[in-house]
Amino acid sequence: MAEELFVPKDVTREELYKAIYPQLKALVTDEQDQIANMANITSALKESFGFFWIGFYRVVGKRLVLGPFQGPIACTSIAYGKGVCGNAWKEHKTIIVPDVDEFPGHIACSSLSRSEIVVPVILDDKVIAVLDIDSAELNTFTEVDAYWLEKICTLI
Ligand code: SME
Repeated sequence: MAEELFVPKDVTREELYKAIYPQLKALVTDEQDQIANMANITSALKESFGFFWIGFYRVVGKRLVLGPFQGPIACTSIAYGKGVCGNAWKEHKTIIVPDVDEFPGHIACSSLSRSEIVVPVILDDKVIAVLDIDSAELNTFTEVDAYWLEKICTLI
């Protein structure tokens, strides 16, 4: 396992994903524990991109429960179909929210969050968790983030 993450400077977001993806793969490959892998992935994403809040919610019964994250304290429990996270779980798909105020039912864990992306972690056709990333700026996330974050979520 690498001891340090190499994060290139002054590159596009896509180039940054390309640079960190193989490192993340190497980081999680010998570890079976999902929580340990989620913890390192949130840390690596925070170090690489610096987004406001990055974390996993794990499916536990009929709700999403807060898992490893980087950033300010957050809501601990989200019901199926509620908020952006609960909808990504229900729909089995990534949801990009350019402006959280425009998303009906958005759950505001912090008033500083302005845009968001939620990616389901799917194992054997079941959503086992979601990766939630919040930005303090509007319109932060695009299909480039969706593509790479979905790829990263398959590593868990
Ligand atoms: N905004 C999310 C809740 C989780 S926090 O952003 C960390 C939602 O609407 O599901």
